[in-house]
Amino acid sequence: MNISIITVFKELYEPFLATSLIKRAQQKGLVDIDLHSFFSFVQPKERIDAPMFGHGAGMLIKPTVVEQAVAHCKERKGADTHTIFFSPQGQMLDQTVLQDLAQKLANNKHLVLIPARYEGMDARVEQAYADQVISVGNYVLMGGDLPAMVLLEGLLRYVPGVVGKEDSVEHDSFTGPFVDYPSYTEPVAWQGMQVPDIIRSGNHQAVDRWRREQAAEVSVKKHFGWVRSHIKVPEDKKLAAAVIPHHYVALCHSDVLIGPEKLPGTTSVTSLDIHDIARSCKTYGIQGYSIVTPLHDQQKIVQKLLGFWASDVGTAYNPQRQSAIELVDLQESIDAVIEQIERKEGKRPLLVATSARALEGQSLLSFYEQDKVWQHDRPVLFIFGTGKGLTPELLQRCDYILAPVQGFSGFNHLSVRSAVAIILDRWLGINLQHP
Ligand SMILES: C[S@@+](CC[C@H](N)C(=O)[O-])C[C@H]1O[C@@H](n2cnc3c(N)ncnc32)[C@H](O)[C@@H]1O
Repeated sequence: MNISIITVFKELYEPFLATSLIKRAQQKGLVDIDLHSFFSFVQPKERIDAPMFGHGAGMLIKPTVVEQAVAHCKERKGADTHTIFFSPQGQMLDQTVLQDLAQKLANNKHLVLIPARYEGMDARVEQAYADQVISVGNYVLMGGDLPAMVLLEGLLRYVPGVVGKEDSVEHDSFTGPFVDYPSYTEPVAWQGMQVPDIIRSGNHQAVDRWRREQAAEVSVKKHFGWVRSHIKVPEDKKLAAAVIPHHYVALCHSDVLIGPEKLPGTTSVTSLDIHDIARSCKTYGIQGYSIVTPLHDQQKIVQKLLGFWASDVGTAYNPQRQSAIELVDLQESIDAVIEQIERKEGKRPLLVATSARALEGQSLLSFYEQDKVWQHDRPVLFIFGTGKGLTPELLQRCDYILAPVQGFSGFNHLSVRSAVAIILDRWLGINLQHP
């Protein structure tokens, strides 16, 4: 692989390029890296930077200097270049970006890395030369040199022969939807912790299965954002689904506020809420959906509806609807729902309330905090209110209150079935980054 780096501080790269696997890769002729200083492209005593136009402090690398440097690199090593600039505003570097880049460069394209310093570069150089602008994270560093080295460390693993075992690159974290499995070495017993027996069993198939399961579990519990945006294969989905804690949904027609005065009361069930929420629950792998009403006449309506879908006529009319409706049960109080889940799971569920308004002083659970909830290894019960929402007393009893669903409009009076669908999707849905 042919690489040029143009930098303000060449000396930062010298030890980096002369160490370990990168040094060996160059010695073996697998990569050819040359370093250029921006200072080589100005006259002696001429500055490479100039103050930004407009008010505000800061120096920028001049576009004319970048122009000269790029032209020099192209002349030296070939004009078929892929040029990368670095900026916190760029594309976030991840394993997929590295893989794609490695593929792009496989036909010996010339890679040119241009890390900036000071306040960066004149905005026009990216427009003129950048094939890609890379960020290593949502934070601001003093310069693009460490990001350039990070990119090299990741990229060169894909050059055949650079790392010893290519197999290890294939299993690397974030190469697929899962992170790497946990690994162990000697001694077998250390600080009261044992290497799992299966790893030393010699049964390769069993070890492979264990590793896949472990990788899925760690990934789901700690990197759900990555999993849900990269999982495609049905077998991986099955592995992930097996380690997501069981979730339940309750729709409360009591313990809710009603009327213009927002007083505690009860509401009526609606058939649409039964059907539509059941279908959302089925889609997102919910284990059970409880309709909560203490009113006998309301209970009769629910039973009649459920009876229809369980009947031969209902099943024949729409078998898929029936498979969703199977999740539904009727309960007279939220405590009855909690007890039923506890009996089934052997653990009391964590209660997660949903509310259209934020309560004063109560901290809210964001839709990015699955790890916080799932680390308890307990079933999770999402509680939805009808009418004007759940009573403050029930909200107080909950372990977490989810942030309200909102758009940019300021209007967030969603129907409860819409709110359920949105919340389940945000919490448990697959949302592929590269469909
Ligand atoms: C001080 S920073 C300039 C930051 C710029 N004012 C901004 O807020 O977007 C100087 C240079 O460091 C590099 N840099 C800083 N943080 C980076 C990051 N997170 N990823 C990639 N490059 C970064 C870039 O080359 C950037 O032009």
